[in-house]
Amino acid sequence: MNNPYHHKIGCVVTGAAGFVGSHLAERLLYENYHVVGVDNFFSGRRENLTTLLEYPHFTFYERSITEAGILRYLKGQHPNLECCFHLAAIVSVPYSMDYPEAVMEVNYHSTVRLLREAEQQDFKGFVFAGSSAEYGGEQRLPLREEYATDNTKQLSAYGRSKFLASREVGVSRCGVALRCFNIYGPRQDPTSPYSGVISRFVNMGLSGRPLTIFGDGRQTRDFIYVSDVVEAYVEAASLVRKSTRAGRKIYNIGTGKSTTITLLAETVNNLMSRHHQPVFCSERPGDILFSVASVEAFRNAAGWEPLVSLREGLEKTISWARAVGE
Ligand code: UD1
Repeated sequence: MNNPYHHKIGCVVTGAAGFVGSHLAERLLYENYHVVGVDNFFSGRRENLTTLLEYPHFTFYERSITEAGILRYLKGQHPNLECCFHLAAIVSVPYSMDYPEAVMEVNYHSTVRLLREAEQQDFKGFVFAGSSAEYGGEQRLPLREEYATDNTKQLSAYGRSKFLASREVGVSRCGVALRCFNIYGPRQDPTSPYSGVISRFVNMGLSGRPLTIFGDGRQTRDFIYVSDVVEAYVEAASLVRKSTRAGRKIYNIGTGKSTTITLLAETVNNLMSRHHQPVFCSERPGDILFSVASVEAFRNAAGWEPLVSLREGLEKTISWARAVGE
């Protein structure tokens, strides 16, 4: 829906130059919302802003979400701001094993500061990017929201930081936390050793290298395509605006389907018409073994359904990577 009146309503997207943030910002701009993007390019990329900057109702700030008072400042500049989509984070599990304090500062402490500012500035919505890593080594599958409790042992500082932040956001008047499972799609950066597995596999495939599987490849993930996640963010914002419900607002965002890393590697190789065997390397510290979402709660609350199959999403991702040479 392209509503000509929406530009009167402003939304902040933190992490707007990131993989998911840039897709979300584009979707909101397309619907004519005024979007205020914030990114410090720690992992975001300037080229992800190219399309966004073509919209007159996009305003960008190169700032860090760790700065105290940032949301208060933005609201002062743009009094029409009503909602904050908080996606800026250090997103890598292995990075968090090496730099746990930095990850706690960015992902947890800064989120709570932003949330408090959103409450004080009367924001109607604060939608937070939680993570399936919050469930740690939980063995009951599919993972239901209530399985992550104060007693859950997350396997990384990344998972811990996201759990603590979601717990605060979920009980806030304006807050809702989305525990996203493994998101993939165009613009996911494949170039770092910390990159997501699908972007790495596609990149290795394009450059003719064998795919590397960490561990025995039987570990599973619930892969969800980026456009389905963007729709979930939009639905979550309207849910929290309408919500009169007391209690925790934390929802899984996944497909409910689990895929082994070995099957993923085979599928990527097939779709790229490659006949290389994958190479098996040692298991990654902090790696979760089995992960798949229960998606009932958000379906019931918001009527949201993921629409893109893994095969279709991989085809789109491979076409994009071929087009941009990634
Ligand atoms: C990912 C996200 C994290 C998110 C979480 C949600 C990234 C970088 N991290 O963590 O932000 O919150 O999902 O579930 O997107 N693997 C290989 N070969 C490779 C790369 C990875 O076998 O070349 C394996 C890993 O060991 C792991 C699986 O693939 O078992 C997924 O890894 P990865 O894509 O890094 O995601 P998560 O660690 O699940």
